[in-house]
Amino acid sequence: MNIDLIIQPIYLISAILFILSLLWMGHPSTARRGVFAGIVAMLAAIGGTLFEPGMNYTWIAIPVVIGCVLGVPLAMVPLTAVPQRTALSHAFGGLAAGLVGASEYYLSQATAHHSLSGFEIGALVAEVILGFLTFTGSLMAAGKLMEWIPTRPITYKGQNAMNLSLLGVALLAGVLLVIFPTWWFLFPIIILLALAFGVLLIIPIGGADMPTVIALLNSYAGLSAVAMGFVLDNKLLIAAGALDGSSGLILSIIMCKAMNRSFTNVLFGAFGQVQASSGAVEQRTVKSATAEDAAQIMSAARSVVIIPGYGMAVAQAQHRVRELFDELGREGVDVKFAIHPVAGRMPGHMNVLLAEAEIPYDKLIEMEEINPDMPETDVALIIGANDVINPAARHDKSSPIFGMPIIDADKAKTVFVIKRSMNPGFAGIENELFYGDNTLMLFGDAKAMLTGIVQALKE
Ligand code: TAP
Repeated sequence: MNIDLIIQPIYLISAILFILSLLWMGHPSTARRGVFAGIVAMLAAIGGTLFEPGMNYTWIAIPVVIGCVLGVPLAMVPLTAVPQRTALSHAFGGLAAGLVGASEYYLSQATAHHSLSGFEIGALVAEVILGFLTFTGSLMAAGKLMEWIPTRPITYKGQNAMNLSLLGVALLAGVLLVIFPTWWFLFPIIILLALAFGVLLIIPIGGADMPTVIALLNSYAGLSAVAMGFVLDNKLLIAAGALDGSSGLILSIIMCKAMNRSFTNVLFGAFGQVQASSGAVEQRTVKSATAEDAAQIMSAARSVVIIPGYGMAVAQAQHRVRELFDELGREGVDVKFAIHPVAGRMPGHMNVLLAEAEIPYDKLIEMEEINPDMPETDVALIIGANDVINPAARHDKSSPIFGMPIIDADKAKTVFVIKRSMNPGFAGIENELFYGDNTLMLFGDAKAMLTGIVQALKE
């Protein structure tokens, strides 16, 4: 019996499920179904591959065990560490693609019956370059997010020219390899250049641009899988890699738009530099209030807009936020949530946390939609957000976040800010909002402060 009659239908079902998975993950109400479809698609893809002729099950079992031993603890990280975990996954994906490409090339050199066509060598070179640059690039991105390496951009004169020349030399070596496939010595050169390019690509990019960079690296890992699919003649790999590559690209475009940045700016702009804090701002005084003050003012308000940020995730305060939402609702206050696309540390971070606390989806309002309502809003309650509500982004041309769209919290009649200190947020810059005439700081851990407010509302 032709084994393809079993494998190809399984691959087709898997590809359809991957597409449905992406479609369903596009909305919070169907996202769980999307994740489930993705898992089934991946299991089907692995199952189908196991039917391929010539499989050595021992050599498959060993890496599966190693993968599980590494993967299970990686999957257990808290939600706040998911971006760096994602970067590490891309690193492993890129490494796997690069290694498969390298083994295919050396196999073709060692065995006469395994010769590769010019097109296949071209695809193999693309796979290896993208795979290895994704490996080191993603490790650097994870290192920046974990602050193991400086998050500020490291720049020097002629940097872009040097990076592009490095890539150019790697591509040239690839072209030579297509023309002279037996010039094996070119292969390690291509690998080394790709590894170096991955590092050099990330060092000039500041921490604040990491979300976009991770989405872009996701895209590279997907494209590398596409190339691998051509080399191995595996249609599912081509389809799944193309979905991964295009969704990563779309995500990075969305992130660029959210931060009002162009692609070239992200890659070559050295954004996210830590700004020396301006003395003028430091000398101003801030007004602080208590949980009881906040409860009193909010219960008398008609409308409250809650603006969550990274601090809510750190404090795991989402369930307290839900209690506050319920309490204020009982008192007849209209409560909405303003969601900034890069609040927190990963795309959709706030949506995930608020969904976990079962806040109705229709209460989560996107930034562009809520901003026109902010001047009419009685109270803006900021919970552990900082960069995404920093007015400097609107007017201070010297600020590294200048041009990034923000939630106009400062335009509300009264602004409460829950945070533990006057420390800056991810971009490392001062926030003039904290010194505003209508701003009252609620210093403390978000969970504890919200518990206090809910308690005061109940009393
Ligand atoms: P941030 O600007 O990072 O500010 C978070 C604030 O939360 C800090 O000022 C911190 O102040 C406070 N905080 C921390 N722990 C807290 C706790 N337990 N209780 C109360 N407050 C706490 O957050 P944001 O406004 O959400 O902005 C996100 C930033 O991260 C942007 O710059 C964005 O570019 C970047 N970024 C985003 C992503 C994605 S995809 N969302 C990925 C990587 C980076 P205290 O220390 O004083 O408490």
